[in-house]
Amino acid sequence: MKIAVIGNGNVGSALTRGLGRGGHDVATVGNDPERAREIARGAEVVILAVPFGVLLDVATALAGALDGKDVVDVTNALTEDLQLALGFDTSGAEQLQARIPSARVIKAFNTVFAGTMDSGSVKGQQLTVLAAGDDDEAKRRVLELARSIGFDAIDAGPLRNARLLEPMGIQNIQLGYGLGLGTDIGLRLVR
Ligand SMILES: NC(=O)c1ccc[n+]([C@@H]2O[C@H](COP(=O)([O-])OP(=O)(O)OC[C@H]3O[C@@H](n4cnc5c(N)ncnc54)[C@H](OP(=O)(O)O)[C@@H]3O)[C@@H](O)[C@H]2O)c1
Repeated sequence: MKIAVIGNGNVGSALTRGLGRGGHDVATVGNDPERAREIARGAEVVILAVPFGVLLDVATALAGALDGKDVVDVTNALTEDLQLALGFDTSGAEQLQARIPSARVIKAFNTVFAGTMDSGSVKGQQLTVLAAGDDDEAKRRVLELARSIGFDAIDAGPLRNARLLEPMGIQNIQLGYGLGLGTDIGLRLVR
């Protein structure tokens, strides 16, 4: 698939490597609005790998270029002291969908650390990626992208379930940073 990754930090660069290895055609950009619009226009799937605080502004700046696209929101709705910035009656992903109604927003990858995003595994064990969204076809494509990296990818329900995935991501961050387990960890659904 043709994928645009907006943000080339820890997450953007890891997903670019993982998806590239998975056989996809990936274009990536940092904080460069003009180039971001250009690569978003040419992509089928656009991954927004930017800080939560700028997510809605970045989406607004891209607006027309996201029409009809699958848009993957990987952000965690974090405050500066690593607490949940909003919930439980909305989520960052739902706010994003409201900002870009012509796109199909999928929440995914926020519950895994960047260090695992180019392989889908940690310490030789496959991790789980959960994806929530209202458009089944878009969600199926994003699940396939996660599988192509190496993750076990599972449908986590409608976009409103981002209200559950966002706190889950922040619990993961608490385990990694606040509670000292480090980022070489990950969640796996055994089933
Ligand atoms: N790190 C993780 O393990 C992890 C895991 C899951 C989810 N996430 C989420 O993924 C997102 C990215 O995290 P990260 O660790 O990759 O952060 P990061 O390393 O700080 O990278 C952020 C990227 O966003 C770009 N950016 C910043 N402001 C921008 C703007 N106004 N317009 C366009 N691009 C902008 C930055 O460009 P410049 O460098 O040019 O400013 C950089 O390329 C965050 O929302 C985070 O919560 C992170």
